[in-house]
Amino acid sequence: MTTTRTPAPSSAAPSRTSQYLQDVRGFSALLAGVAYFPMTAVNFVVALAVPRLQRRTSGPVLLVAGLVLAVAGMAWLGLIDDGTSYAVGVALPMALIGAGQGLAFGPLTASGIARVDAADAGAASGVVNTFHQLGGALGLSLVLAVTTTFGGAMLAGSVLLGAALVAAVVLVLPSAAGVRRQARGVSGERGTSRASRRTRPVPTVRGMTVNQIPALTLNNGVEMPALGYGVFQTPPDETVTAVEAALATGYRHVDTAAAYGNEREVGEAIRRSGVPRDDIFLETKVWISDFGYDATLHAFDKSAGKLGVEQLDLLILHQALPSRFDLTVDAYRALEKLLADGKVRAIGVSNFMPEHLDRLLDATTVVPAVNQVEVHPYFRQPDVLAADAAHGILTQAWSPIGGITFYRDGEHTSTLQDPTILGIAAAHDATAAQVMLRWHLQQGRSAIPKSVTPSRIAENFDVLGFELSDAELAAIDALDTGVRGGPEPEAITLETFGRDIPEA
Ligand SMILES: NC(=O)c1ccc[n+]([C@@H]2O[C@H](COP(=O)([O-])OP(=O)(O)OC[C@H]3O[C@@H](n4cnc5c(N)ncnc54)[C@H](OP(=O)(O)O)[C@@H]3O)[C@@H](O)[C@H]2O)c1
Repeated sequence: MTTTRTPAPSSAAPSRTSQYLQDVRGFSALLAGVAYFPMTAVNFVVALAVPRLQRRTSGPVLLVAGLVLAVAGMAWLGLIDDGTSYAVGVALPMALIGAGQGLAFGPLTASGIARVDAADAGAASGVVNTFHQLGGALGLSLVLAVTTTFGGAMLAGSVLLGAALVAAVVLVLPSAAGVRRQARGVSGERGTSRASRRTRPVPTVRGMTVNQIPALTLNNGVEMPALGYGVFQTPPDETVTAVEAALATGYRHVDTAAAYGNEREVGEAIRRSGVPRDDIFLETKVWISDFGYDATLHAFDKSAGKLGVEQLDLLILHQALPSRFDLTVDAYRALEKLLADGKVRAIGVSNFMPEHLDRLLDATTVVPAVNQVEVHPYFRQPDVLAADAAHGILTQAWSPIGGITFYRDGEHTSTLQDPTILGIAAAHDATAAQVMLRWHLQQGRSAIPKSVTPSRIAENFDVLGFELSDAELAAIDALDTGVRGGPEPEAITLETFGRDIPEA
């Protein structure tokens, strides 16, 4: 800190205590200790707001504004003379410096210079500044006490003040760390999962940044958070609460479908969440009953109307209709039109087998950005993964933790109980679900786990704090049984699976 000035000698000193208290600088040292904390608070809040500010203002503008504020604050500090009350004189410029630092941090992180996300930066700078201010306050108090009294009772008082500040920091740190975890999307709730209590940092994971869900770049340049939140089988009356919980946890990608019957509630949850629409990657699917050029154009209107949005981030065909591939192609051509018109940012397919992809690509122009298919350790579909990769299509895993192996009767046992997966989970202090999600992310797939249970919603999002080895990835690959959990794609017909999708 630069504000300490040598105090004038005291004129009258009936006792050391009253001499100290009469000295405005000595008293203000106490206040200064308190005045530093507004800086922490302002810095923290501004840094947390930077991602939103940045959406409206360019990074360099924020950077310059931040630096100007910080310099103005420091200049003001330098102008404080001996008689200025530190409570006012320090708190205000400190707040300016804090705002400046907060604003300046965002562009630095967005530019990649600092490899943490802005929300994390806010929490981190809050912690760092707490220490910084503790040091400043402590030093200021001690210097003033020493120069005023040259020891004795008030020096002891200053030391006590320092001890109190140390105690305050010890109390502040855990809550700051809690905010940091929340910024990463971890609930902070004790007992949700072993891994959610893990704080061990991992430097980088295959190009992913550590403290935020990595974005995957689709073949048309659009970015999509790799980890999304699915709502298949989420009843409409539970959907608003569940999606709101997911968004509060940090998910920024939601996967729904016209056939799930809960698009309206997904839209309601997004509006209620307070998360800006632009921050959320919204994906939905056209059901086979709406296949055909005009019908699929109208299917967009129905879905967008229910979701309450103008534009979708990703619209995909829910299934191929092998027996009516002409309708499938017409539906996809409608998606191409919606893409060209800017109604959707990306288009794709779901449950398309390699031969379906070949037929589609022969008849249409735009290569699907995504193929959403059943992929979990017991059903890996390596031929589909290879075909997707060969065409530049991103594979998105449905039932990514093998839900279909345990919520439906079938030939499978539950992936959650698999001894290999549980062994790997134990080695990483993680859960089976987290290991499976990590497996998808490290192999470059998108995954969209579903849960209506808050602790699981948080658990499934907390997957960046550990890394699977190549041997572990291979061991999970080797669990493939080749047994499909979902319906056979070739068996999908309008007669067996057709159903009316209501108007918006
Ligand atoms: N394109 C398609 O044809 C298709 C088909 C199926 C699914 N999908 C999409 O993929 C998403 C996910 O697939 P999915 O729902 O089939 O399966 P999933 O996400 O692999 O598993 C969901 C099931 O696992 C439970 N669960 C979630 N997290 C858990 C955890 N950490 N520990 C223990 N259990 C957990 C859930 O229960 P609770 O909810 O009770 O917590 C639910 O029963 C769907 O929501 C949908 O968006 C697409």
